[in-house]
Amino acid sequence: MLIPEILDTFRDLLQEAHDANDPEPTAMTLATADGAGRVSARIVLLKGVDKRGFRFFTNYESAKGAQLSAHPQVALCFHWKTVRHAVQVRVEGRSEHLSADESDAYFATRPRMSQIGAWASKQSRTLPDRDTFEARVAQYEREVEGGEVPRPPHWGGVLVVPDKVEFWYGEEYRLHERVCWEYDDEHWQSRLLYP
Ligand SMILES: Cc1cc2nc3c(=O)[nH]c(=O)nc-3n(C[C@H](O)[C@H](O)[C@H](O)COP(=O)(O)O)c2cc1C
Repeated sequence: MLIPEILDTFRDLLQEAHDANDPEPTAMTLATADGAGRVSARIVLLKGVDKRGFRFFTNYESAKGAQLSAHPQVALCFHWKTVRHAVQVRVEGRSEHLSADESDAYFATRPRMSQIGAWASKQSRTLPDRDTFEARVAQYEREVEGGEVPRPPHWGGVLVVPDKVEFWYGEEYRLHERVCWEYDDEHWQSRLLYP
């Protein structure tokens, strides 16, 4: 469970990034590893944060989905260039699927074509050509014509439950400030790190 001190700092910085016209303030790098320890990273969008952790949505059968199943430990990294002298937030923790109800609720807010795309895209698997994908989109459009689009069972939310959060504040001459929070199964404790 995130304590208010960490959550409020994160939310304030995210708000500052919005206010400072960061083009994609919720974009975060998500690093995952497979069972053999091979690491990969990509951008996903933060869709919520609360005391339970950080959440994003994806295809559970994608490459990252398979890695999360094999190895739930993940890392997130935000970088807001337009906040102060630049800010980085690093998060480490364990991932778990959000409940079906929470995934349904978010899926229902998505634009209809994005909902159809979630059915049509076999995310991360080989696509022989673009026409094949467009045909799948058209096929699902026909199937759901006139009705609501249900959430695909393979698509939903992921919660990252953090046990480490670092706030990095850029300073001149690389004399940056780093505040590292760690959870030891009972308490969150902070310490400063050399830059
Ligand atoms: C700005 C941006 C936002 C993205 N947001 C998401 C997202 O929220 N969820 C997602 O699954 N992929 C998102 N993607 C695509 C991922 O970076 C990635 O290509 C895709 O999820 C497949 O990754 P994988 O093959 O490692 O599973 C986003 C890409 C960019 C550039």
